[in-house]
Amino acid sequence: MKITSATFAKSSSDYKQCPPPDRPEYAFIGRSNVGKSSLINTLVGRNDLAKTSSQPGKTQLINHFLVNNTWFLVDLPGYGYAKVSKGERQKWSDMIDNYLLNRENLVCTFVLVDSRIEPQKIDLAFMEKLGTQGVPFCIVFTKTDKLTAEKWKASFERYEQALLQTWNALPPIFKTSSISKVGAREILSQIEDWNKLNE
Ligand code: GTP
Ligand code: MG
Repeated sequence: MKITSATFAKSSSDYKQCPPPDRPEYAFIGRSNVGKSSLINTLVGRNDLAKTSSQPGKTQLINHFLVNNTWFLVDLPGYGYAKVSKGERQKWSDMIDNYLLNRENLVCTFVLVDSRIEPQKIDLAFMEKLGTQGVPFCIVFTKTDKLTAEKWKASFERYEQALLQTWNALPPIFKTSSISKVGAREILSQIEDWNKLNE
């Protein structure tokens, strides 16, 4: 899919404030600092659409971006950020859960995980929750530019094994990097297919 336009639409602190659910929508979620905002920028070919930071906890609201005037990309706050208060963390967690459960035009959620580290309980538990709630998701490995081909293979296989402890079948999985841009074409092509199904 060729990106012809990508604009900021709205930031919301509650799913009820989100833009009208009148077009297909794809959300990006994962632990703080995993690379959600960077991946969104990579997908739309811009450096500065979604705000990124080397400090975790940058994205704090539900941010909608309108792409090609036809679909929404959504940048969500990260989960599991240790440096905010328990109350604040719970507030973000509730905001994300309510959004994921109630957003009627949400086609798929992309769950981002850092390709360099071993499977984390918090990520696996998050995916399990999505599965239990019937929220469709894909898995996206980020920062793969930091791994050799060999290390990537080992990391991927380790993750597959961890997932197969819980799941009978694996969801679509993408290997990405915001530095080398690998994976962007594949994600956009998947979104294009889903957009067609939702026409
Ligand atoms: P929060 O909004 O705080 O939850 O973080 P986020 O998941 O949106 O992460 P963000 O995109 O802001 O990136 C966090 C840091 O990781 C930044 O310093 C990015 O430059 C870096 N980063 C993101 N993606 C990649 C990648 O593919 N490769 C490398 N090497 N660094 C990356
Ligand atoms: Mg962010």
